[in-house]
Amino acid sequence: MATLNILRYPDARLHKPAVPVTVFDDHLKQLARDLAETMYAAPGVGLAATQVDEHKQLIVVDVSERRDSLVTLVNPRIVESFGESDIEEGCLSVPGIFEVVPRAERVRVRAYDANGTIFTLEAQGLLAVCIQHEMDHLEGKVFVEYLSQLKQTRIRAKLAKQLRKSA
Ligand code: NI
Repeated sequence: MATLNILRYPDARLHKPAVPVTVFDDHLKQLARDLAETMYAAPGVGLAATQVDEHKQLIVVDVSERRDSLVTLVNPRIVESFGESDIEEGCLSVPGIFEVVPRAERVRVRAYDANGTIFTLEAQGLLAVCIQHEMDHLEGKVFVEYLSQLKQTRIRAKLAKQLRKSA
């Protein structure tokens, strides 16, 4: 297993759409494990393959306190969504920024696991928000893009300042 490098907004590679997975081989399983390890090490509650520069439709999520409820979703599709959420979200690619953006409160998601078995997941609250956030990454969308241009400019300036400080 290995922890992978997480791309930081506004890296252009975060905007590359991911392609559906067609082969459920050892390489995919390894990537799913590495993605989970990277998420736990960060630490974060979700990570999309896009964020580690692997442009496949694969996300991992664990919103549990005990960090023992890993969900791996391959080629996820939202089949139904309900309500509106007001949960603040953050992103490992946009460190230190937390905002509320438009999300459904509950979703029904169809996906494959890393072995290629299809399943349906009902999610609500933080788990639902997290899945929607990670699925956006697969389309090349970062959550701050829901915000006003002015806010996005401020966020980019703040992140550039953070990077200069850590350099
Ligand atoms: Ni994110």
